[in-house]
Amino acid sequence: MELQNQLKQMAAKAALEYVVEGEYLGVGTGTTVGFFITELATSGKKVKGCVSSSEATTRQLLAYGIPVCDLNDIVDYLPVYIDGCDEIDGNFCMIKGGGGALTREKILASLARTYVCIADESKLVPVLGRFPLPVEVIPMAVGVVSRQLKALGGEPKLRDFTTDNGCKILDVSGLQITDPVALEEKINQIPGVVTVGLFARRGADVLLLATADGVKESAAL
Ligand code: A5P
Repeated sequence: MELQNQLKQMAAKAALEYVVEGEYLGVGTGTTVGFFITELATSGKKVKGCVSSSEATTRQLLAYGIPVCDLNDIVDYLPVYIDGCDEIDGNFCMIKGGGGALTREKILASLARTYVCIADESKLVPVLGRFPLPVEVIPMAVGVVSRQLKALGGEPKLRDFTTDNGCKILDVSGLQITDPVALEEKINQIPGVVTVGLFARRGADVLLLATADGVKESAAL
């Protein structure tokens, strides 16, 4: 297995210690989460049910016989949410949505008591923005939102992809995100934007960062 995948698997395995047996668990999307689902399935740990952030994650959970619950049937919080990221900074603000699941991920993140981010060391950056920022958009608003994003200094590119919610994604490059909270709020205000892949107002609580020297665990200040 290539080194980056080995690191992703190490971070995924370390997240098992955050799984609360007999409780609901929020599960993100992506290759790192894919490793986590495999680890969860083979760990023998039993959760009451998982709340999934995408159709892809749901399929993988069900393939292992792990129960998946509808968020509407769950009360108002998730004890733990485990997900990856595309970039994370020193304040645990993140860029997410490389896998296109940002809207459901942000809903689950907002309900989590503890958000555990699992990542390989390449994801940790001093300033967010090298990874193009995904923005999920109502299809009829792609043009108008693109113009607004250009006015903010970004270069939006339409992804050849339709989300689980039937929407489109603009990947915005060229942004130096020095104030992630402010930018998240600004992009949220653009009519036609469903979700911006900046997770700053609600970032991660715990980072499990896999490095060549092992998994480093740190908590948000
Ligand atoms: C999915 O929409 C994203 O938010 C993922 O969390 C992100 O793309 C991480 O993916 P990998 O684990 O595949 O690197």
